[in-house]
Amino acid sequence: MRTDTPPTIYRKDYTPPSYWVRTVEMGFDLEPSATRVATRMTLERNQTSNDKVLTLYGEELQLVQIRLNGKVLGTKAYQLKDGVLRIPTTAEQITLDIETLLQPDRNTSLMGLYVSNGNFFTQCEAEGFRKITYFPDRPDVMATYKVMLRGDKKKYPVLLSNGNLIEQGDLGDGRHYALWEDPFKKPSYLFALVAGQLVCQEETIKLKSGREALLQVWVEEGNLDKTQHAMDSLINSIRWDEERFGLELDLDRFMIVAVGDFNMGAMENKGLNIFNTKFVLANPRIATDVDYGNIEAVVGHEYFHNWTGNRVTCRDWFQLSLKEGLTVFRDQEFSADMIGTDSGRAVKRIDDVRVLRQAQFPEDAGPMAHPVRPDSFVEISNFYTVTIYEKGAEVVRMYQTLLGRDGFRKGMDLYFERHDGQAVECDDFRAAMSDANGRDLTQFERWYSQAGTPRVVATTVYDAVHKTYAITLKQSCPATPGQKNKLPFHIPVAVGLLDSNGNDMQLHLRGFPQVQSTVVLELMEEQQTFVFEDVSEEPVPSLLRDFSAPVNLEYDYSDADLAFLMAHDSDAFNRWEAGQRLAARRLLALTATAQQSGAVLTTDPALSESLRLTLNDAALDPAFREIALNLPSETVIAEQMDVINPQAIHQARRFLRQSLAQALRADFIEAYKANQTPGDYSPDAASAGKRALKNLALSYISELDDAAAHVMAQTQCDGADNMTDRVAALGALANSTAPGKEAALAQFYQDFEAEPLVVDKWFSLQAMARTTDVAAVRKLMQHPAFSLKNPNRARSLIFSFCNGNPSQFHASDGSGYAFWAEQVIALDAINPQVAARLARSLDRWRKYAPSLQSKMQAALKRVAQTAKLSKDTKEVVGKSLAAE
Ligand code: TRP
Ligand code: ZN
Repeated sequence: MRTDTPPTIYRKDYTPPSYWVRTVEMGFDLEPSATRVATRMTLERNQTSNDKVLTLYGEELQLVQIRLNGKVLGTKAYQLKDGVLRIPTTAEQITLDIETLLQPDRNTSLMGLYVSNGNFFTQCEAEGFRKITYFPDRPDVMATYKVMLRGDKKKYPVLLSNGNLIEQGDLGDGRHYALWEDPFKKPSYLFALVAGQLVCQEETIKLKSGREALLQVWVEEGNLDKTQHAMDSLINSIRWDEERFGLELDLDRFMIVAVGDFNMGAMENKGLNIFNTKFVLANPRIATDVDYGNIEAVVGHEYFHNWTGNRVTCRDWFQLSLKEGLTVFRDQEFSADMIGTDSGRAVKRIDDVRVLRQAQFPEDAGPMAHPVRPDSFVEISNFYTVTIYEKGAEVVRMYQTLLGRDGFRKGMDLYFERHDGQAVECDDFRAAMSDANGRDLTQFERWYSQAGTPRVVATTVYDAVHKTYAITLKQSCPATPGQKNKLPFHIPVAVGLLDSNGNDMQLHLRGFPQVQSTVVLELMEEQQTFVFEDVSEEPVPSLLRDFSAPVNLEYDYSDADLAFLMAHDSDAFNRWEAGQRLAARRLLALTATAQQSGAVLTTDPALSESLRLTLNDAALDPAFREIALNLPSETVIAEQMDVINPQAIHQARRFLRQSLAQALRADFIEAYKANQTPGDYSPDAASAGKRALKNLALSYISELDDAAAHVMAQTQCDGADNMTDRVAALGALANSTAPGKEAALAQFYQDFEAEPLVVDKWFSLQAMARTTDVAAVRKLMQHPAFSLKNPNRARSLIFSFCNGNPSQFHASDGSGYAFWAEQVIALDAINPQVAARLARSLDRWRKYAPSLQSKMQAALKRVAQTAKLSKDTKEVVGKSLAAE
């Protein structure tokens, strides 16, 4: 922590290291308050470097001793300043011994080595290894590691690190040891150790090549009944990567460990993935269908990193999306393939696009907007963003859209052939895709270098005489911080044309021989016109099918066109999209009305009739019907307004939901009855889809807040045999005036008090309830189960309120903002990474009405002026406040 302005790091300043580290041997004497770490590394001079200094990084370390080639280095032989250790040397080969002393039990940042519930864990990405020892802690320095762990036998019966267990035994003094060796060279951010009282579920499987591998899922005792789904997901991930990409597990042993205190979702440490408990533990009693899906996705994600991230890693942190965007794309495809059906794939795609629009589009339009490959940062932890991850995945998906599945696979094969064992750049990935397919992808590079969500405006002309249909696409991209003018992107726009019966026309694109029902138009200029021939009647265009590019596509559809697409488009994504466009139109109109005092909101029978058709269409999967009946969120509507009025949006959306509930009440009741899932709970996609539709029906019916609705929710809450149904019913009650509401909340807590992940749900659901204001959140913070120190708990209450309850958070008196500032400051002293995430909640402050804006600005300034603020939080609030 520093008080001066933290430095900005630039991509253009990259220089190769002056030394490579070849081998690392580490010895840990594990003690919560004083862990001794002895590190020996062998280094070799990088012949291409002119730098006459060996540079190592260290933070919050007590340095005991440095020895260079066996000789103790006096304090004059090196320079230590601001976490950088410089040793002047030009020797070809060096052996460096460094001894450090750590205090893991006082490490609340959860970076480096820390204690959680009495056990030891590490988190080294991105720059946590430097909190363990002084080291050239940068991803282009790769070495093989041998790790000796020593600790009390009773307190730490389990001692784990990366790779293979070589040896273990007794030390005689009540302590024992374990020696681990990782045969693959890796960057320091993939180092990990775990020590403590843990138990595991294990299974041996045969890999495609015939080799055997031991798989383990490690948890605290008492959680062994919650590991089966993670194990199944791991096995499915291994099989999927063998099948889809021909990639096999390269270790004899692969471990997953769950920890309750964790900054993010999970971490892909080589052979020893460490997970937030939220993404491991599941059984029907404690986990929802969504939790089951998330666990499968995150287990897949971390496993897939073994190739995309670990075997081929990043040259520097500006290349982060090289591994994250690619690995998110891979986990998205994995989850889609696990569902299997076409409509299931579409639902998964819609879910992913919803996340993108809800979180990434606002980021790309706000003060923290950055390219998929950023040019600068202050704190790299702040760049684990939805842009790097989700937009990065969209960029990877576009290669597949442009090159086809087979072409994409060829590109992947070439990427591994060229770069296995290397630390590379995003450009290397693009080159592999380009070279493997003989395709010029020069212009595609702009997806990596230019921030902002492109806008594509489509116009069409039908020529009835010549039977041609012309689509003109015009692209632009709004200015983002440091990037005023943008050059045209290479945008794949998948298009279909519907005839008057709602069928796909066969498309004859001028200049292209192939006839298809979906064509990918490649928009490369600022404006381009594409002409279709032999078009027998004026079609309704289905544009950007399957969301073929991360852009905002505008077209002047009539309401009738949208209703038609909703009913007929063969592209399930665009069927959903048409409904969303129609609903967003209504919501924006209602919001405008709600802002005029005395204005009366009125219903729209056309929208409810379209939604009724979808709701009752038995040919559609329940999961699809559920997602189609879900109105655009308050955040998505806010992004479409010039000046955001959270109260008006909330009022409009609630009104629309209530009027839909009234109009479709009988249909919802019917859907509720028709989508029961009797028998034992199973998280499979078909059952989950039914539960989702049933619970959507319940939530609409509950909007009516009458006695019948209360009984329905109460009955479900009391009778539920799984968490999906229980929490859905409790949520409905929490948003109602049902007489049994308080009792239901109390009962839920009593039933699940011993399950931290369920207590998180309990906090979160109350944080987002309509009537929960700042005072109510403060009261919840007084609950004995609340703690700011546990990130999951802080997220469940504070983040849920600030990000998930916009109408209360944006209370006109500014009380929400004052609360936010207080919590950011309090969290910053405990855990800068988590604090900096919360600091992002006011990103879009300039888009609000002036009365709110000034109060947000004041709260931001209050945080910015706090003494001893971390560079994490300082960067976020600094960028928010910076002149546009
Ligand atoms: N690389 C991890 C992933 O995407 C996430 C990660 C990065 C992380 N930094 C972290 C996790 C810090 C915990 C803490 O899977
Ligand atoms: Zn990742």
